[in-house]
Amino acid sequence: MTEKEKNDKIINLAVRKGFFWKSFELYGGSSGFWDYGPLGSIIKKKILDEWMRFYRIKEGFLEVDTPTINLDKVFVASGHIENFVDIIVKCDNCKEEYRADHLLNDLGIDIEGTDLNKYEELIERNNIRCPVCGGKLGRCQRFNLMFETSIGVDRNNRSGYLRPETAQGIFINFLRLSRLARTLPFGVVQIGKAYRNEISPRQGIIRLREFTIAEAEIFIDPNEDGLSIDKVADYVVNLFPRDYNREIRITIKEAIDNKIIRNKFVAYNIAIANMFLTRIGIPNEKIRFRQHKKDEMAHYASDCWDAEIKTDKYGWIEVAGIADRGDYDLRSHSIESDQELYIFKPFDKPIKVKKNVIKPNMDIIGPMFKDKSPLILEKLKKGEGIIKDGDLHLKIGDEDIIIKNGAYSIEETDEEVHGEKIVPHVVEPSYGIDRILYSLLESSYREEPLENGEMRVVLGFKAFMSPIDVAVFPLLPKKELIEKSKEVTELLKSYNLYVFYDDNGSIGRRYRRQDEAGTPFCVTIDFDTLDDDKVTVRDRDTMKQERIKISDLGEFLEDLIEQSKSTP
Ligand code: GLY
Repeated sequence: MTEKEKNDKIINLAVRKGFFWKSFELYGGSSGFWDYGPLGSIIKKKILDEWMRFYRIKEGFLEVDTPTINLDKVFVASGHIENFVDIIVKCDNCKEEYRADHLLNDLGIDIEGTDLNKYEELIERNNIRCPVCGGKLGRCQRFNLMFETSIGVDRNNRSGYLRPETAQGIFINFLRLSRLARTLPFGVVQIGKAYRNEISPRQGIIRLREFTIAEAEIFIDPNEDGLSIDKVADYVVNLFPRDYNREIRITIKEAIDNKIIRNKFVAYNIAIANMFLTRIGIPNEKIRFRQHKKDEMAHYASDCWDAEIKTDKYGWIEVAGIADRGDYDLRSHSIESDQELYIFKPFDKPIKVKKNVIKPNMDIIGPMFKDKSPLILEKLKKGEGIIKDGDLHLKIGDEDIIIKNGAYSIEETDEEVHGEKIVPHVVEPSYGIDRILYSLLESSYREEPLENGEMRVVLGFKAFMSPIDVAVFPLLPKKELIEKSKEVTELLKSYNLYVFYDDNGSIGRRYRRQDEAGTPFCVTIDFDTLDDDKVTVRDRDTMKQERIKISDLGEFLEDLIEQSKSTP
């Protein structure tokens, strides 16, 4: 079976069994949008639950849930309006639009950044024509990937954007969250939808215009990391550092000691990401962490390692990024909002420092600035204002206030200082949940020949990740067997198991249908059950069958599901 055939089979299976399918099919579809069906919705929820267990429960992070529509100011500050762009090029003839970097990548030319001249020069030099009609390509243009929207009744007032990441909803709540956390380091998580107006997305569910991300923003004191890596020191990961040009298997401690990963929090979170991905069922050998090239990084990042999973169809795909965002976001939002975003860190003992203090001369400032003078006084008390060419400059809202020499004086004072203002740095693990789901489906897929010459298709999920926990079948569609099967179904529901009842078709076909859905256990009720109150439990992977007393069945299945959590 070629990789393409395998992938087509996986997509067909996913659609047929109700994992996912293209959105808006009734109206012809629209690329970049996919729906999750009944099984896909469950497995996605299980991935998210497990993610939360790692970050909220085990790491102890706070959780927030903020709007998916954000004010434009948020993305002015974050730099997304300026920098969140792809370079596009349009065919002069058929008007088809392309991502310029993709056209160049197809020829093996690696390009990053947003320098339009560089793209145009390379397209011209390599004589790249429209892949659809062979027409001449036009000028390159910057295209912002955010969806713009209006807020309120005025449709022309395009004052909002659908968020391209959940992170900004955390940064702009920093002051509240830091008060709740009370200490550094602390982390905040958010799971939700994000939106990117991808150009001609053609990679199915792995390049979506609306997708689910799970992000943690970890706020760190840049002078004192406060992180013990003991828990992960000997944990081995596959790294692909930018300067090595190959993969290495290395412990987290070695990666830190040899300065391969410079930020301890990044290293620690690489281990957590590997633990999470293997826990849900991605094979360890299919995971690596690739460091971004210098010109590949997002505008806010000073270092970034992508968690990549090897897929048959798409090769290595990025499923998460662990980025060092430094103090970029908090500083940017401080400037844009005109509010200081910092943590006050008290000293053990106050210290005395000599300080130059600006003393306003209110006899001059009062009449000159009238009702603005209380605000000026307040800002000076807070230590705001800078002296330039002998004049004092202050900002009130958007207005620059200039106070001439003479209207203020500078006095040296002894001041007792109780602590310092710290602008935390941020390390961000950010996960693309849809890509993880696809990778899990692909890596769980297998075909096995049966003795009767047929082929069975199995989705070999770990039992705790399977959408359906257990299927219940009457051996034959006889009234007394159906009644008993429904009783067993109700019993298993009371154990919080998701049960699928099926009395349709031969027992063999029913097993096959559940194998394809990844259901780990099938329970069959036969005529012996009516006498001995035992059922047959069939294991998806071994196909072995075991007789179990109905009274033990719930706990028996619960134990097996629990055990599957610790399998490699
Ligand atoms: N917050 C990570 C990203 O936007 O990709």
